[in-house]
Amino acid sequence: MDSISKWRSDFPVFHSSMNGKEFVYLDTASSAQKPRVVIDRLIEAYTHHYANIHRGLYAFSQDMTTAFEASRARVTKFLSLPANYDVIFTRNTTESINLLASSLSLCAGDEIILSEMEHHANLVPWQLMAAKTGAVIKYATLNKNLEIDRASVQKLLSSKTKVVSLMHVSNALGVINSIADIMHDVKLFNQNIVTIIDASQSFVHGRYSLESLGNPDFIAFTAHKLYGPNGVGVLAGRHDILEMMSPYQGGGDMIETVSLQGSTFKPSPAKFEAGTPAISEVIALSSALDYLENAFENGAGIYEEQLTQYMIKQLSSIDGLKIYAPEAKRVGIISFNIDNIHPSDVAMSLDQMGIAVRTGHHCCMPLMNALGVTGTVRASLGLYSQASDVDALVAGIHKIKNLFGAG
Ligand code: ALA
Repeated sequence: MDSISKWRSDFPVFHSSMNGKEFVYLDTASSAQKPRVVIDRLIEAYTHHYANIHRGLYAFSQDMTTAFEASRARVTKFLSLPANYDVIFTRNTTESINLLASSLSLCAGDEIILSEMEHHANLVPWQLMAAKTGAVIKYATLNKNLEIDRASVQKLLSSKTKVVSLMHVSNALGVINSIADIMHDVKLFNQNIVTIIDASQSFVHGRYSLESLGNPDFIAFTAHKLYGPNGVGVLAGRHDILEMMSPYQGGGDMIETVSLQGSTFKPSPAKFEAGTPAISEVIALSSALDYLENAFENGAGIYEEQLTQYMIKQLSSIDGLKIYAPEAKRVGIISFNIDNIHPSDVAMSLDQMGIAVRTGHHCCMPLMNALGVTGTVRASLGLYSQASDVDALVAGIHKIKNLFGAG
């Protein structure tokens, strides 16, 4: 295995130290670090021709509009979307799912299928809407590998099912769900059920087209988790369904006409993009997608797989350390606990050593309940991760075990 990442030098943050120690970043699942090309694109947009889009009849506004719309086309290409899909820019996956939950016109008795492992972003918006409309949420359970149980989803499908919204890759466990199979099962049962994939953790770890994910009606992801800027989410979805939906928010740029009596709206995607968006950030997303695609063409997938196996092997050699879902098909996100040491104590001690991990429920409280824990320690990899990061984590854990008398 290459123990050195060939991408690491693209990320300026690694010139920084944390708590006076070399910075070891194992929290990419929370947010990915930014390569120089993305930072430069942001600076370029703000420095040389910044202006609002879709409004100005002057050159800079038109330059920015062109670059913004080119980013939309870049997302279309990235996902290999067919012509009947729109790309809507939101703030993040949370906003994308709130948009769907609010605008899909759910009624009393309609059934929504989610799973026990969903991130709160794919739970709470539906719970709010269910409370408002009388729609009913049903939860698919997990199999012994802690993947969404395909049979459990099949059993929940009924003539009342209106929406199935599931995550592809678990942010808390790194498990890759058989999402394409599940999406096909749902559409085979009833073409009219709206299928949604939360793909927030997918693209940082692998290349997927809409088709390879089972052609969901909607797919949501967020730029900051794939080396892009903050404040930009992508909701790609079927134009015909979007046209039947009412706007999520009202305001500037989404209207056709406004009078004191009422308003008419532009077609999707504009109908769902009220107000000034994160213009420069959307433009820089396209540089992040270029960067990511290039990395995968140059072996990023195999590199991460090997580093993940190395991390599992090294962590497994520690007495009293339990990895969750060790047998599952997975990406480089590993959740674990250590006997008799609280996960927060592990994370705080690692911080003092310059090592960043996430601890707690990872915005997945129902999943933690299903696992019978209040939280885990989570170490997650990115393109810049390398064997020395894993070695630092393992050495840190040995020190912590000695410190807490658990060695
Ligand atoms: N969803 C992000 C995480 O898993 C914040 O850490």
